[in-house]
Amino acid sequence: TRVGILLSGRGSNMQALVERARGYEVALVASDKPDAAGIAWARARGLNTFALSPKGIGKPAYEAALDAALRDAGVEVIALAGYMRLLSDDFVARWRGRIVNIHPSLLPKYKGLDTHARAIAAKDAAGGCSVHIVTEELDGGAVLGQTAVPILPGDTAETLAARVLEAEHALYPHILTEFVADERNRGVPPVARA
Ligand code: GRF
Repeated sequence: TRVGILLSGRGSNMQALVERARGYEVALVASDKPDAAGIAWARARGLNTFALSPKGIGKPAYEAALDAALRDAGVEVIALAGYMRLLSDDFVARWRGRIVNIHPSLLPKYKGLDTHARAIAAKDAAGGCSVHIVTEELDGGAVLGQTAVPILPGDTAETLAARVLEAEHALYPHILTEFVADERNRGVPPVARA
């Protein structure tokens, strides 16, 4: 299965997906931030990359170009990895059931930003991460897998984030491998080429 990864920043989850790829291949790494560290890493690694900022051209033109790049690369499944922009309803509909995301909380708790600070403020015993299907609702689609990570005395948002990030790097490749295998087993038809 050919996977396209979308990122906006550091790209550590993208690196984990590349380095632990089993049952899928990374056909494209794309970024809405042309100077993202993650896209530089992917380029240096010789991966197929696409970088374009929506600034100046607007969201519809940006998403049309992104969609074309994904289809040109033969991408069948999109994995969001620190992609900090909301995909339009139209884009999500075109890739329905084929976009997954990793979110740094135990969904359905703490959708959106500042998940670790919110978990600490609520005195939760654990934080964690979730891989889920992307729908039109932010961080709202079906959860495919989760890892709970204990919150320790003295934890700050930063120390907890670092501990959860390690769990993310283990969870995401594992769940993506399962997801693409399930898709094959269900006989989901390939993406129609434009
Ligand atoms: C991760 O914590 C991920 O869960 C969240 O954004 C962060 C991205 O980090 N969606 P990285 O770019 O993968 O290093």
